[in-house]
Parts: sequence; C-alpha cells; structure tokens
Amino acid sequence: MQPAGKKATGSVPPSDPWFIREERFDAAGLAVQESLFALAGGYLGTRGTFEEPVAPDIKSIEGTYLNGVYFREPIHYDEGAFGFATHNNKMVLVPNGKAINLSACGESFVHGTSEATDFSRSLDLRSGRLSRTTRWKLTGGRSFDIRTERLVSLTRRGLMAITYSVTSFDYDGAVTLTSTLDAAYGGTDRAGDPRAGQLSITDCLTPMDSGTDTDGSFFLHRIKDSDTLVATAACHMVEGADATITPAATPHVEGQRFDLHLAPGQTVTLTKFVQYDHGPLAEAEALDTRTRNALAAAARDGFDKLAVEQEAELATFWADAGIEINGAPDLAEALRFNMFHLYQSAGRNGMSSIAAKGLTGHGYDGHYFWDSEIYVVPFFTATRPAIARAMLEYRYRHLDQARARARTMAHKRGALFPWRTIGGEECSSYFPAGTAQYHINAAIAYATIQYIEVTGDMDFAAGMGAELLIETARLWLEAGHFSAHDGGRFCIHEVTGPDEYSAMADNNFYTNAMARHHLEGAVRIMGRLAKDAPDAYATLADRLSFASEELGEWSEAAAKMNLPYDMKLGIHAQDDTFLNRPVWDFDGTPADKYPLLLNFHPLTIYRHQVLKQADVVLAMVLLSDRFTMEEKRRNLAYYEPITTHDSTLSTCIYAVANAELGNRDAAYKLFMETCRMDLDNLHGNTHYGVHAACMAGSWMGVANGFAGLRFERGTPAFRPGLPSDWQDYRFALRARGCGLAVSVATAGTTYELTDGESLTLRHYGKDHTIMAGQPLTLPNA
Ligand code: BGC
Repeated sequence: MQPAGKKATGSVPPSDPWFIREERFDAAGLAVQESLFALAGGYLGTRGTFEEPVAPDIKSIEGTYLNGVYFREPIHYDEGAFGFATHNNKMVLVPNGKAINLSACGESFVHGTSEATDFSRSLDLRSGRLSRTTRWKLTGGRSFDIRTERLVSLTRRGLMAITYSVTSFDYDGAVTLTSTLDAAYGGTDRAGDPRAGQLSITDCLTPMDSGTDTDGSFFLHRIKDSDTLVATAACHMVEGADATITPAATPHVEGQRFDLHLAPGQTVTLTKFVQYDHGPLAEAEALDTRTRNALAAAARDGFDKLAVEQEAELATFWADAGIEINGAPDLAEALRFNMFHLYQSAGRNGMSSIAAKGLTGHGYDGHYFWDSEIYVVPFFTATRPAIARAMLEYRYRHLDQARARARTMAHKRGALFPWRTIGGEECSSYFPAGTAQYHINAAIAYATIQYIEVTGDMDFAAGMGAELLIETARLWLEAGHFSAHDGGRFCIHEVTGPDEYSAMADNNFYTNAMARHHLEGAVRIMGRLAKDAPDAYATLADRLSFASEELGEWSEAAAKMNLPYDMKLGIHAQDDTFLNRPVWDFDGTPADKYPLLLNFHPLTIYRHQVLKQADVVLAMVLLSDRFTMEEKRRNLAYYEPITTHDSTLSTCIYAVANAELGNRDAAYKLFMETCRMDLDNLHGNTHYGVHAACMAGSWMGVANGFAGLRFERGTPAFRPGLPSDWQDYRFALRARGCGLAVSVATAGTTYELTDGESLTLRHYGKDHTIMAGQPLTLPNA
C-alpha cells in the first residue's frame, strides 16, 4: 500500500473554516496555490496567479478558461486502427485579464525578486473574494502597501473584477500602473505525465482584431480551425489620484498605462473589469455588442455592487448546501473549500459540465469524464438540483454524437458516450483505459435516474431523461449477449471498469452491476411515464422507434446479468479472471514507485491483482441495497489491501464503505485524506488543477458515509453515526422540492424542514414524515 498522508509542497495550513489563508509567499508551492486560489463562475475560470509578474525561476502556471469552449486538434497515431478517436478537444486558454504591473523609481514589482514583506492572501468562501496584501520596499528603502481584491462573478456570466490599491508609506513621486490583457502566455510542461495538459494560448487562438483607446482594451480571437470567436474586453476606473492614461500595447498584449503621483499616506485604487464571451463567427457583431454591454454594465454598477451580488449568491448556496462540524475546524474548512470549488466550476447553461480539474487548471486538457455523473451530479442533485439538471442536459445535447460513436463501434442501436470529451466526441487516444470504459453510459443513467427520483422532475424525465435512458440502455443489449456457453447469463466482454489497473476484462463486476441498475431503472421510469405522461411517452416511442418489447429484453438482461462471484472466497470477483492473477508485490514496491502508472508499463500492472481505485467497492457504495452486510465486509476486506488509491477518486469511496461497516477509524482516516487532498496537495499534482471528483467525494464522506445517506428510489434514507472526534455535525440537502437540515449529535439526529411542507424520509429503515415547523429527533441506531 502506498503510504498515506504524504505531504508535498504547497500545503495550506487549516485556519478559520470560512477562509483559506496563506501567510507567506511560498515560491516552491506557487503553482499549487494558483490552483487552490482559482476563481470561477461556472463559465469563466481563472487561476490564482498574481496580477504582477513572477521571477522566471519560480514555477507559475497562467490559465484563464471558458467552460465548454475548446480547441480541436487531430490525434496523431503512428500505429492507428479503425474507430480510434480522431481528434482531441482542449479547453481553450483565453487572454489573461488579471495582469497589472506596478512600477516606481525605475523599478517594477516582481514576486520573488523584489523585496517584499507582510505577504498574505485569503479566499473568503462566504464572499467569494480573493484578497492579497504585500509591502513592497524599493531599493532606496521607500515602500508601498499593495492590496488587491478579485472576484469572478457567479451571477454575471464571463465577468471578472479586480481592485488594485497602492498606498505610499513614505514615498513621494511618480508611480505607473500598467494593466493589460495578455494573449501571449504559455502552456505547462507535460514531463511525461499523462494527467497534465499542454497548450499555450497562441496554439489555440488566432488574433482577429484588437485595440486600446481611452475606454479600455479588447481582443477578438478565433479558435484555430473552428468557427468560434472569443471576445475579451477590459476597462478601468482610477480613484485617489489623477492619472494620465496612455495605451500600452505590445504584440499579443493590449492594455493601458496609468501615470500618477503618490505622496506619503496617499492611496490610489485601480478597478479593473474584464468581460469574456464567445460565439459563432457568423455572429461576430452580436458577440461584440454583448461583450461591450456587459462590461459597461459592470463598470457602471461598480465593484462594491458586484461584491454584494456575489455574497448574496453564495449565501443561497450555503443555505442549500451548508456543512458545519463541531470539533474539526480543519475538515470543515476543507469541506467548504471543496464545495466552493464545485460550485464555481460546474457548468450551468446546459452546454457544459465539470472538468476533472474544474476551472482551476488544464490538467487532462479540461476534459469531462464519468467523474461528473458519479461524483458531482449527485452532489448537486442533493444541493442545487438546477445545476444537476444542466449537467445532464449537456449530455443530452451530445446524444447524436454518442449515437454516431455507437455506430462506429458497430452497435446497430443506442448511444455510446465518450470516455473523455468536451465537445461530445471521443477524445481518448488510449482505448484500453478510454473507450473501453463502457460504464460511462451507466454513470450517465445512474445520475439521470437519481436526479429524476430525488427531484420528481417529470418534465425532465419525459423529455431529455427518457431519451438519454433509452439510448444508453439500448447499448447494453448491443455490447452484451445471453451466453449459451454460460447457461444463458447476460455477459459483457472486453470492457474496462473504473479500476484502470485492469483493462479489457470480461464481465467486470462494476460494469455489469451498474448496467443491471441502469436497465432496471430505465424500465421503471418508462413504466412511470407510460402511466403519468402517456402522450409524451407515445411521442418519444414513435420518434425513437421504441417498442415496449424492448422493456422486456432489458428486464431479461438485468435478471440474467452475470455478476462474478467467487464461492471459495465468498466475494464478488472484479471480473472473470481477476482472481487468477498474482497479487502485486506491495512489499517489494518502494514508496517512490507510486503512482504505479508513472513507473510501470500498463501490461505489467494489468497482469496483477492491484487496483488503482474502487471498483467492486464502488458498486457496493452506489448500489448499497444489492449486497448483504457480510458480502460488503468480505469484499472490502479483500480489495482494500490491494488498492493503491493512485486515483483521487478512490479514498472517498473506501471511506463511505468503511463507515457503513462500522470501521470508524479507517473511515475517518480515508475521509480526512479525501477532504484535504488538494489543500495539502497529497497527490503532489494539484498544480495541474484541483480534483473535482475527490472534492465531491468529501461531501459523500459526510452525507453517504457518516450520515449513511442513500436515496432509495428517491427517498432519502439515513443511518447516521458520529465520528468520535466530533461533538456534532449538520448539513443541508434538498429532496423532492424540500430543503432539509440534518443535525447529528450524540443525543440523536434531528431532521428539520427549511423549505417545503412535508418530506418523507427513512431513518434506520423506518419511514418518518417531517412537517414544516416540526423538527424530529430520532436516536442514532
Ligand atoms: C481515473 C479516472 C478518472 C480520471 C479523471 C483517472 O486517474 O482513473 O477514473 O475519470 O482520472 O479524473
């Protein structure tokens, strides 16, 4: 097993649970901090890089992104084959609007070179603002205080605002602020790590137009080889000093220079508004007008109004999704930080989802994976259902591409969603750990079924939901077959499960179990639609040539699903042959050989019993009611010692499984690791961006783990427990249109409605109806 709790550079110590603070300039951990301090608004995301430049010997990764907007480039294979993915999608880099240069007395402020003291930075999770202070001392001994505040609006799409204040301490003289839009910054160094993304802004954008006048600066770019335009525009306000404003443009950079005079005690504040948008080439004029109008509105309203809007928006999020823990401030801080990032990075417009790294870095090229539907959508279904719906709508919009992909893969009917993508096409160039992960279809169905059953959103079910379910369910009948050789059982061959340390397996347990859930859920929801929305059902059936006999086939495949079970060990086998392989030599593998994927050829790994991440155990957590407690105990005891957790999607699942089985210490340890994965940079790669699925996994640790929450056909069912270090904890969630606050203490669990009239929930297997204004406390057993 890999040693737990490794700490790499860039860790942030726990502080106030609503603030993420950094009290000193950490040159070695800078690129990590840039991911942690990234700000986003669902569409626009920008890394927490400084306004001012950084010394060239310090690793800093610039990045500003637009969710769902990508650059498409051919994949080159020296040895290709039919049906291989042909193109990659890369989340585009757009101009860096944060850049502001401060100079005085012939010197410019540069982090890591200039003499600076009193550095501090903090991200306020309630206001969504990132603040920084620094004292800069000139060579001659005079000094300035620099104070910045930044936000990326959660309510105004594509808007960022910065206030940059400089106070002279004892300097009397000329000061220059140069504020730019930088469209020339570079990419990251991939250095042999497949998880890194690599792109520079000039690789993906072609300049079409740009300019600077007294009102501000703008860029119009075209994404290379596409008909998509990206617009960026900035404007400023100066307060506290009279400034002479002149244009400051260099190749690929547009900006304004503000020359002014500062006397001791005087403060000048430059407020910068930057608006981003994109649109089709044919609608360039509309894009330009939209961008300019949005920018002008922001400047008219001013930073303070934007800040008030931001805080109000976050207040509604924390009301729906708040978590409090009495007894573990570092974990409360981490949970809120994780939830904040999920909220910032998730697409809300039905055209985008959440990238594996959110909008905090371009690791994995900004791709969306199954992470979205198995980890993140369930979090939003239970807290912000509108976002869950928008993320599922994103999949719906790409159904035609998934249908086409299924045909390429020789499936006559149905749809096969891509393993990794932005624009809907398969972008995985390594098919054994990519396209072969057919469980992506079941993931989308799992999230769809859960969303429908928890929210009761029958409009969604009758439209997008049913079509998604039908088309993805059809694929199982194409990919699998009733095997005469295997007593007529339904078998699925040559697929890869979640555990990417095994590939191309027959009857991967997780895939088959999830396919069964998918088929049964699709039958159930179609049955409900036939009864409750017969017209919508008939129209859809007609459009998709869907005959009710298909429901019979799905039920039969589900009933006869081959779910490998080893009688001797009394466990579910990960696949047909997994248990025949030798167990990996864990004792002979030094800590520096982890993660295995960076140190061994895939075949070496595939030939052994060793897991990158939860597989059978994930099925146990997601499909909890399909296993006995004894099966769960034996499965966990078998798989846990051979799991490396080399993927950050793993510890959270083992935390939940251990919590359910009453292994409190193990659950708590895994939960802590999950919670602080990025804040403590435990996998040493947070500089590529944060780990969105793991962040959602930390919420799972509390809700599904300690509180034992499962949705049983949409009914919230709890089996709450209290970790021994905590006095009590409380979290909010939404189900069936109601808001529910759950408080777990030694004396029992209190359920209280915060919104809605009544909600039926299950507590240790027994149903209770909670009425508005009548909280109910029940014992924890
Ligand atoms: C994991 C996948 C995951 C991907 C993106 C990989 O390391 O094995 O399950 O989808 O990361 O987060």
